[in-house]
Amino acid sequence: MSYPDLRTFLADLGGDLLNVKQAFDPKHEMAALLRAMPANGPAVLFENVVGHPGARVVGNLVASRGRVAKALDTSEAELAATYLQRTRQGIAPRQADDAPAKEVQHLAPLDLGSLLPVLTHYAGDGGPFVTTGVVLCTDPTTGRRGMGIHRMMVKGGTRMGILLANPPLSQFHAAAEAAGRPLDIAVALGVEPALLIAAVVKTGPLGPDKMDIAGALRQAPVEMVRAETVAIDVPARAEIIIEGRILPGVREPEGPFGENTGYYFSNISPVVEVTAVTHRRDFIYPALCPWTADVDSLLSLAAGTELLGQLRTQMAGIIDLDLTTGTCGFTAVIALARARPTDVRRLIHLALSMDKRLKLVTVVDDDVDIRDPREVSWALATRFQPDRDTVILSGMEGYVIDPSCGGGTGSRMGMDATRGSGPEFDKITIPAAAVAKARTFLAETGLVAG
Ligand SMILES: Cc1cc2nc3c(=O)[nH]c(=O)nc-3n(C[C@H](O)[C@H](O)[C@H](O)COP(=O)(O)O)c2cc1C
Repeated sequence: MSYPDLRTFLADLGGDLLNVKQAFDPKHEMAALLRAMPANGPAVLFENVVGHPGARVVGNLVASRGRVAKALDTSEAELAATYLQRTRQGIAPRQADDAPAKEVQHLAPLDLGSLLPVLTHYAGDGGPFVTTGVVLCTDPTTGRRGMGIHRMMVKGGTRMGILLANPPLSQFHAAAEAAGRPLDIAVALGVEPALLIAAVVKTGPLGPDKMDIAGALRQAPVEMVRAETVAIDVPARAEIIIEGRILPGVREPEGPFGENTGYYFSNISPVVEVTAVTHRRDFIYPALCPWTADVDSLLSLAAGTELLGQLRTQMAGIIDLDLTTGTCGFTAVIALARARPTDVRRLIHLALSMDKRLKLVTVVDDDVDIRDPREVSWALATRFQPDRDTVILSGMEGYVIDPSCGGGTGSRMGMDATRGSGPEFDKITIPAAAVAKARTFLAETGLVAG
């Protein structure tokens, strides 16, 4: 089933959605619950939001691979293949017949913090932060659409700080600023998972329109409508739209903000002046708590599977790639079939230069389950010799939110944890029939096999 908007997806989750009737405060309390959710736990819908009667907040939306697969109408096993096949197609957006995202309209002057239940996540955060806003804008030079998730600090009234650490938005803003003009933006909040994933796909400066990727991922064109105060098309079925402009030549302190790295990160950032907020009558505000499985899951597809697809165009035998949970996309494990040492070296160099976030990569054979930390550690412990099997690349671009780079250049490391050719590297096994019997027994007793 293709989901046209967030609420259609939520309605189809059944028992995989936890309805929270108890009052929770957007300041710290919601983040605390989202952080405490068990692995593969349900999505969470806060129905009683302190300070915002009538509003609801959803979180943990894409935190499980099962829910991501459901959002794309596929299975977990087929997730990577489905993603790669669809994102190479593209379905262009179309003009909407109606626009629920505009049911209620507030034009500036307004107070963003009173209108929306924006979460304050961590104890040291400098204020509430919008974390799951799909920021849309147009290249002032070419007219090309830009789209990405960018954190925004609510500073009071109509003012927000915005972290522009990534193209294309950082480039569009630089071009507008050079011409002394503001950059119009629109921020879509509360969109279906396919659109959220498309927003963070790594397309590169000459890549396809991410709205076409969103259409392909959900197998139907995204319905768009012109915003009220800026010349930008927005998803008509979003829950909330914030419209505004990034001011030229203005920089202000933004942060501290508990980032996806697990550390606070402050910056001197551009400033958005909000011109309008529109929303559905009974809107659902989307939360995305940094440094949680929700973020891992987004990066897993949009950065991990995307990199897997790019690497496969360069090399045969790449079985799978996993971005390690909790590492903000800095660490990956790749499984390679019939690995020759020269192939592994080439793969390490390719991976570490293709993805600007990736800092540590481990290559293993296809007899290792790359999503099981025990197996990856085992391969490193028994098949890897540090002085022989390590590749270090120095003087590489450091990623801005990585505190170990100190804001400058960084280094990257690849580890060849593939086996040697002798039988001493053959993994011990138990006959398949005995394993099947044990698994059946455990399933019947209600236990999950390890
Ligand atoms: C959860 C999440 C939060 C992000 N926050 C920011 C941000 O605050 N500022 C920023 O410039 N990029 C941020 N990004 C990355 C941009 O959305 C980026 O444009 C997108 O991932 C495309 O990657 P690329 O620029 O490496 O091609 C974030 C990505 C994710 C997944």
